Amino acid sequence: MHEFRYKGNYLYCENAKVSDLARRFGTPLYVYSYQTLISHYLKIKSAFRPIQPLICYSVKANSNLAILKALVNKGAGLDIVSGGELFRALKAGCPPERIVYASVGKTNGEIEDAIRQKILFFNVESLAELENINRIAKKLNKIVNVAIRINPDVEPKTHKFITTGKITNKFGIDFNTAYKILLIQNKFANLDICGLHIHIGSQITESSPYVAAINKVIGFIVKLKKRGMHLEYLNIGGGLGIIYNQEAPQTAEKFAQSVLPLLKETKLKIIMEPGRFIVGNAGILVAKVLYVKSTPKKKFIIVDTGMNDLIRPALYEAYHQILPLRLTEGAKKTEKADVVGPICESADCFAKSRNLPCVKEGDYLAIMSAGAYGFSMSSNYNSRRRAEEVLVIKNKVSVIRKRETHADLIRNETIPHFHEGL
Ligand code: LLP
Repeated sequence: MHEFRYKGNYLYCENAKVSDLARRFGTPLYVYSYQTLISHYLKIKSAFRPIQPLICYSVKANSNLAILKALVNKGAGLDIVSGGELFRALKAGCPPERIVYASVGKTNGEIEDAIRQKILFFNVESLAELENINRIAKKLNKIVNVAIRINPDVEPKTHKFITTGKITNKFGIDFNTAYKILLIQNKFANLDICGLHIHIGSQITESSPYVAAINKVIGFIVKLKKRGMHLEYLNIGGGLGIIYNQEAPQTAEKFAQSVLPLLKETKLKIIMEPGRFIVGNAGILVAKVLYVKSTPKKKFIIVDTGMNDLIRPALYEAYHQILPLRLTEGAKKTEKADVVGPICESADCFAKSRNLPCVKEGDYLAIMSAGAYGFSMSSNYNSRRRAEEVLVIKNKVSVIRKRETHADLIRNETIPHFHEGL
């Protein structure tokens, strides 16, 4: 599943001993495994080989340039959602014709930049946005490719915060409205409506929601064909779940077995936007135990990383496995404890009443499966410097983002001239 394994008593990332990395680079530290990253990309690629989809890795999951570059080098495209992500995608050397752009709130400036860069297409999320892109394309004297993001109204059976394909969600356009738009597409003289897009949610562990959504889309495509309307692309989004704890998510193979026959039936070029599946288990967050504190009711293991580095447990009550970097005799015994960070919020907690190895001050812990939506959702809350990130390739280690300095924290701040009496 991934390249983080114990060899003897020590946790390794590929051929690098993680405790050595923690000592060398300090903590909190994100450690990524190149082999794990690439093998997950290749798992999807080979499972879907019969239809050769364009796999546009979802930049939001982990937007570090080194991660993007590694995937782009293997032929991946990128799924972006902002001007900042476009900037990163281009910096990583992604050919624009492999970039797709979703988001319910693209600004005029962002749209203009993406048009000038000639990305493959926009995933358009409302009629107002469609009109706006048409207007901007006209101003620039360009014909712009767009796909309509459909909200297929299916239940993806995942956390409500990461459900995106139900009709009550802000994302996409319902089938009726999309049909009306397509009937009047000639009105959008500077647009080529070349595809449909769906993305129904994230951390989806079974194929049935996808099958339901794709079947609905196929019905829609048939209806369009009857009116003489033909499309080129179907973008089925991302959302494939991974193992955090006891889940048994579908493998790429199983997923392909369920959806390939349907996708072939569309005869369209297929695009996919996986994020978590590719990078989720390719990264861990390493922390040091600062204190062990017993209260009349509980035991707390206080670590030097917090919700500013990894917000998933605080935000979604997400489960992340926590493992010691060294299996000492003490670490083989367990005790019930909460693992908490130093931040002034009770939500700053990585595990609640969990059976954990007995640890002491100075020991290191790994918070597993932190490669996706870890660093990319991190912040400077409590004026904490964001963590260092390193990438391991076999036994070679590269710093791919330096730890921030205190100067970085105030880089864009200025103190106005305060007049007497103010
Ligand atoms: N495509 C679109 C249009 C998306 O909005 C997303 C994720 C993806 C693709 C990639 O989804 P993935 O394959 O990674 O599931 N912060 C949350 C997840 C939010 C997902 C947002 N959209 C978490 O930590 O669980």
